[in-house]
Amino acid sequence: MMLALTGCAQGGGGGGGTEEGPKDPSEIVVGFAQVGAESGWRTANTKDIQAAFEEAGIELKFSDAQQKQENQIKAIRSYIQQGVDVISFSPVVETGWDAVLKEAKDAGIPVVLTDRAVDSQDESLYVSFLGSDFVEEGKKAGEWLVEEYADSTDPVNIIQLEGTTGAAPAIDRAEGFAEVIADDEKFEVVASQTGDFTRAGGKQVTEALLKSNPDVDVIYAHNDDMGLGAIEAIEAAGMKPGEDIKIITVDAVKDGMQALADGKINFIVECSPLLGKQLVDIVKKVVAGEEVEKRIITEETTFTQEEAVEALPDRQY
Ligand code: AHR
Repeated sequence: MMLALTGCAQGGGGGGGTEEGPKDPSEIVVGFAQVGAESGWRTANTKDIQAAFEEAGIELKFSDAQQKQENQIKAIRSYIQQGVDVISFSPVVETGWDAVLKEAKDAGIPVVLTDRAVDSQDESLYVSFLGSDFVEEGKKAGEWLVEEYADSTDPVNIIQLEGTTGAAPAIDRAEGFAEVIADDEKFEVVASQTGDFTRAGGKQVTEALLKSNPDVDVIYAHNDDMGLGAIEAIEAAGMKPGEDIKIITVDAVKDGMQALADGKINFIVECSPLLGKQLVDIVKKVVAGEEVEKRIITEETTFTQEEAVEALPDRQY
């Protein structure tokens, strides 16, 4: 489900239709530049977007940037050259997009951001941004922790497994979490390192950080995959994840939810990858020259162990 915020932008751009009337979906071509295939979330997001465009009968050109900004910029430039109707992408990192976005604007091709934001000051460089509120997700993680340790006065040592350095979800999830735990000095982030949103990264970083921080109480991972890697590292160190060390993650993909149901993760903040249908709607409006919401925030929930057990049988991804 999506929550549309105020503020509209005129679609305009290269789509528009012809003198005979609006374009048929079969005449629309969209170029999508994906981040990569770094996590279960990303795989689900790619599948959902491809399925939604196929169902709508709209041609989707797809590229996988393998978590590299230069690959994404190359893909966007190629879509501009091919004269697609709309370009959409989920930026690997927040900064460094103005030049290529200006090239798209100059070519009259509207750009829709999905999942992750750019930090551009010039909001006319994109028509809409569809995705989660990552700061809010970080706050939810922090609020659970504060509640969990409400009756304790002992220090709580936290390891943070950060997402890709410079990516909006890594920056914002750290910010929201830090803001909430700052009110109580018993909480201390004793180490914080990137695991690049991957399971292997989460495992490797946790292995190293457990050696230098044997008194850790909690691991806050910016996504399920890094949390699942942390579980492997904790078990290899002879400890019980979820008991000896509590784990909080973000995403709520099936593997993460299973670990939560099994008691190896303690709390998950949901981040929905199901953005395909909303993206198709935005694309259709933009091509028809209709107004679109500048910011559309994904509505999300949180899961405790009991809630994960209940939700798992119907989990789509
Ligand atoms: O941008 C969304 C984040 O990217 C997801 O939380 C993570 O799993 C993915 O790699």
